[in-house]
Amino acid sequence: MEKIYVTRPALPPLAEFTKYLEQIWESKWVTNQGQFHQQFEKELAEYLGVKYVSLFANGTLALVSALQVLRITGEVITTPYTFVATTHALHWNNIKPVFADIDPVFCNLDPEKIEAAITPQTTAIMPVHVYGNPCEVDKIQEIADTYGLKVIYDACHAFGVEKNINSILNFGDLSVLSFHGTKVFTTMEGGAIICHDEKTKKRIDYLKNFGFADEVTVVQPGINAKMNEMQAALGLLQLKEIEENISKRRKAALQYRDNLQNIKGIRLMDDIEGIKHNYAYFPIFVSQREYGKSRDELYEKLKKNNIYGRRYFYPLISHFPIYRGLSSARSSNIPVAEEIAKGVICLPIFPDLKGREVEEICNIVQSDSLSKPS
Ligand SMILES: Cc1ncc(COP(=O)(O)O)c(C=O)c1O
Repeated sequence: MEKIYVTRPALPPLAEFTKYLEQIWESKWVTNQGQFHQQFEKELAEYLGVKYVSLFANGTLALVSALQVLRITGEVITTPYTFVATTHALHWNNIKPVFADIDPVFCNLDPEKIEAAITPQTTAIMPVHVYGNPCEVDKIQEIADTYGLKVIYDACHAFGVEKNINSILNFGDLSVLSFHGTKVFTTMEGGAIICHDEKTKKRIDYLKNFGFADEVTVVQPGINAKMNEMQAALGLLQLKEIEENISKRRKAALQYRDNLQNIKGIRLMDDIEGIKHNYAYFPIFVSQREYGKSRDELYEKLKKNNIYGRRYFYPLISHFPIYRGLSSARSSNIPVAEEIAKGVICLPIFPDLKGREVEEICNIVQSDSLSKPS
């Protein structure tokens, strides 16, 4: 079998992209708020159902800048169960990450654990909509309002996700997207900050352009995080395909669920009522005791069969040398995250994944199970 990776980007027809490139070559306007950049910001805001979008070169720079925009300092409460960039963004801003535990079902920051982690130095909460499943946004906002904290969502997995027909990006003070090649919506590299008012949008745009407010005014030590015209042009084309791509992902997810739902020791994630999902990931959680083999044994077996799942998110960020000295990084503080990280494998999911490939993957998962269907 051909190698199957956890994801593969869906790209538009090359000929379509070439037409946009010709325009860029013609205009010689390659970056700095060009025509495609402006058009993509507008169309993206419309598609997502949000007020303001500021495009970025990638999601990490967008996270770093989001913290700067709100002048976040001191301590920020966040999750250890995410991609390292979430915590690195705090580190780059000289902010102390304070890890709180996750809920065992959806693996998002547990609101019950946030309050206990608040200190006089806490200025914000940075939750992550892990796998695109929405955090408990109302509870988190209530805590933020009570303690006067800002909320910045790492929404890098949550492109297009809605809660009761409202974009999940409309919650919190700011939300950050990634358009990396592994994401549901990709511009190869890219990202965005979503905000809800024009003044904040302006400040975000200053900060991604070295802090320039105009030709002679620099308001803050901004960074160069601008999206270029090629990325923006690709983004415009990708918008045309996104709904179809999400529905193809959904089809694969449903097939996985059909095939894997009755395997003892394998837990799946269900859809949540009222949520429009994007099917960004297909995590399964292996219980060695019930399944009969460990997560790593299954992971290696899949690899031997050319199937490259990923153990998102293992190891936990709190295990990395930069962060493991923090008192909140102790395993006893985050027992649920520790347990979940030991059992997870994200199976391949992407629009071009074929039905027979899903079947093949499911067969391998089934063949190792103690409760093989007879
Ligand atoms: C949860 C999360 N946060 C942040 C990032 C960083 O985004 P980027 O790769 O666009 O810098 C990613 C993905 O790469 C991610 O999955």
